Amino acid sequence: MAGRRVIGAEHVERASRRGRRHLEVLPGAIVTDSARESAARLRIALRTGPLDRPAVPVPDGTAALVRGLYRRGAKWMPPGRPRGRSPVRLGRLALVGAGGVGANVAHLAANAGLAEEIVVVDVVPGLAEALALDLVHASGLTRSRSAVSGGADLALAAGADVVVVTAGRPRAPGMDRADLREANRRTVRAVAETIRTAAPGAVVIVVSNPLDEMTAEMLLATGFPRERVLGMAGTLDSARFREALARAAGAGVDEVEAMVLGCHGPEMVPVVSRARVRGAPLERRLSRAQIDACVERTVAAGGQVVALRKTGSASIAPAHAVVEVLDHLRGARAGAVPVSVRLDGEYGLEDVVLGVPCLLGPRGLVEIEELPLDESERSALACAAAAVRARIAEGARPEAPAS
Ligand code: LAC
Repeated sequence: MAGRRVIGAEHVERASRRGRRHLEVLPGAIVTDSARESAARLRIALRTGPLDRPAVPVPDGTAALVRGLYRRGAKWMPPGRPRGRSPVRLGRLALVGAGGVGANVAHLAANAGLAEEIVVVDVVPGLAEALALDLVHASGLTRSRSAVSGGADLALAAGADVVVVTAGRPRAPGMDRADLREANRRTVRAVAETIRTAAPGAVVIVVSNPLDEMTAEMLLATGFPRERVLGMAGTLDSARFREALARAAGAGVDEVEAMVLGCHGPEMVPVVSRARVRGAPLERRLSRAQIDACVERTVAAGGQVVALRKTGSASIAPAHAVVEVLDHLRGARAGAVPVSVRLDGEYGLEDVVLGVPCLLGPRGLVEIEELPLDESERSALACAAAAVRARIAEGARPEAPAS
């Protein structure tokens, strides 16, 4: 037996601490009884290896480019505390909704090989299957290591580690995100009920609009702790703010640090006081009028895409923003990322879902970072909270009987 690797309980426990769901058992290795007991208790699957490795460089231009982009540091964010762990590959990633955002997330996630399995679900017959088949065909070129499948049955999300919910109607020109509330609330509630039973340990990322209200709905309907229900919007709004600032200042986007907090609506809060271009405060690089114009462009950005497209909303930037959140969850990104979560006193706000900088880990929210904001930003955040609360209260009124 000399030279054979022995896998003990400590190996399983270490894998669990690192957020792993699988432990590789190479041929010939000995697994102790206590390791098996720990694996059962901690829900770690002992898999006969070698397992697929993530992010293997391949001689394909597209995949190499995408992977190269993903490996770049998150330069736009102020450096947070490093967590000293290497990225984990997600086990099962379920995407509920195969519209523009869902399809782009599936594509990016498959190309990056960031999950062992990607399951796409959409109620429109054939849509998710077609998307999955298309991605499977593409893997002949991309060499993606993710197994992709699709279907119309929400039960396919069973056992997912992460569920991304993009299902619901998108805006039409002239619509506010809040106008989608009633239609999308029913969808989100139905999805939540399946997630609650089929994927009870999942981290849920809500993308459906109106984002903060739908995240609150998901939280309520799943009964999950706040750590596992995250709304993706601040990441997208921050990307738009950085791009606007970079363009106005004639700088590269990677020379800009900026984030948007609050809600994903007209009351969003681009944080001017902490934004930097080439390390300097905005006032040193831009006039007041230019800064105001960047804030306005950021708030209007999603609506501009809707107005041009006529049917449907933005999908590429939102999908990249979802992948950014997935990368924070799996430890491929360091620092805080703006995500909508329920606040329990942070920023002086309670019992409201709002976008704030969050440190994430494989089990979701680890910690909310409380940035020192200036007076006007703190009151803008309070206004955003009031707006979200008011919309939720309005939606909670008994519905008028159908005529
Ligand atoms: C946007 C939509 C997706 O901001 O809310 O583009």
